[in-house]
Amino acid sequence: MAQPPCFDLIFFGGTGDLALRKLLPALYYRHRDTVDCSGWRIIAVSRQALDTAGYVAMVHEACKQFIPAKDFDEAVWTAFATRLEYLAIDATVPADYDKLATALAGSAERIRVFYLSTAASLFADICDNLAAANLVTPLSRVVLEKPLGFSLASATAINEAVARIFTEKQIFRIDHYLGKETVQNLIALRFGNSIFEPLWHRAAVRDVQITLAETVGVGERGEYYDRYGALRDMVQNHALQLLCILAMEPPSSIDPDEIRDEKLKVLRALRPFTPDDVRNKIVRGQYRAGAIEGRAVPGYLDEPGIPDGTTTETFVAMRVDVDNWRWARVPFYLRTGKRMQERMSEIVINFRAVPHAILPGNDAGNVNRLVIRLQPDEGIELHVLAKVPGADMRVKPVKLDLDFAETFKTRQWDAYERLLMDVISGNLTLFMRRDELDAAWHWIDPIHSAWATQSDPPKPYSAGTWGPTASSALIVRDGLCWKEES
Ligand code: BG6
Repeated sequence: MAQPPCFDLIFFGGTGDLALRKLLPALYYRHRDTVDCSGWRIIAVSRQALDTAGYVAMVHEACKQFIPAKDFDEAVWTAFATRLEYLAIDATVPADYDKLATALAGSAERIRVFYLSTAASLFADICDNLAAANLVTPLSRVVLEKPLGFSLASATAINEAVARIFTEKQIFRIDHYLGKETVQNLIALRFGNSIFEPLWHRAAVRDVQITLAETVGVGERGEYYDRYGALRDMVQNHALQLLCILAMEPPSSIDPDEIRDEKLKVLRALRPFTPDDVRNKIVRGQYRAGAIEGRAVPGYLDEPGIPDGTTTETFVAMRVDVDNWRWARVPFYLRTGKRMQERMSEIVINFRAVPHAILPGNDAGNVNRLVIRLQPDEGIELHVLAKVPGADMRVKPVKLDLDFAETFKTRQWDAYERLLMDVISGNLTLFMRRDELDAAWHWIDPIHSAWATQSDPPKPYSAGTWGPTASSALIVRDGLCWKEES
């Protein structure tokens, strides 16, 4: 029987929002559902003056808040809490790492994961300090949270600093979208079935739409968000990674590098934007006051921490071309925004219309459509044309709907549960390789440069809508429309 894994998981930024809201609840679930967790050790590190008891109380509150009541069990919690330790360490102070060295003494044979859930500006210092304290062992891994850099130049500086201490195989660059169940299912759908591949190219596909829409605003993250904006926060990573998985060639195996090689080819095939393209093929927007689910919400400029008159975008829509044989002339539309009408992330593949329509109701807008829903309600829908019951021969689109929760009747793992377990087992498949990250920044940077020289500010849109009207115009110009408008 396989040995249960023994590991030391060290969270830098252990009192931060991500750790409390996502990482520790994810570990609670994994601890609950794993038979033998006797070898688990979770050490949270941050500057806050706390002891382990104080930290455990903090995590208890967070878990009660972020884990649904039906899943939260005090007995399970009590067992999980015994795995937690806390060390008050200033990550920038080398001498503070002595505390970590003492805690980790004698554990060099165990898997050691350093999870850097801090600002990327601290990554280099943390890596140097870990190395200086002799804490980096052959079984060590480092997890880097996004955003990894701000541009190609800053990402390169961070990657070089980390690479001085860790080998590429020890570096796990996380993009939590890749851990989502439906993204895994996209891989299963494409490469586990034979019926889709013959349709997966320019002859059969008319257009692809990727929408990552949120109803939340920037909340308490105003300072961070205003520096990054939607293009860096969502497109450079999540949207491009989805596009890669959708558009890549079939890899010859599920070996991490086989998959990452194919994703890299897609990134390199993205048509670069000229300054004119940036003006014509990209819409950037910024939300104004409006209403979300019947509740009035302020505009971006009135959110806490947002400087007056900032031109940071909270919405982006763009037409992307993938210049290779498979996808020539198939437009990919990407769209993401805060304070949109619905929380909805999905990939829509619209197939070409029938070459000659003979059935009433089969107009050009009624095409076969494959919808891969990431959230809410993860699932896959295939829209086909069926006859409307009755005397007349009339067709209309109906859905063949695979709802994962309904079909598999099991709780879907949160993305972080899968990704944390992958780090521990050393599986790099769902993590970005350095050359992928570089290629993504290489493609994104000219957009920012063009925006910096353009005088027109982001287009306003009311909170609770699908973004600026220019976003509809962008796609209507190509004779198409966004799925919710069709
Ligand atoms: C994060 C972004 O990476 O993804 C956030 O920084 C965004 O701004 C979040 O809200 C969205 O993730 P999810 O899983 O809720 O769609």
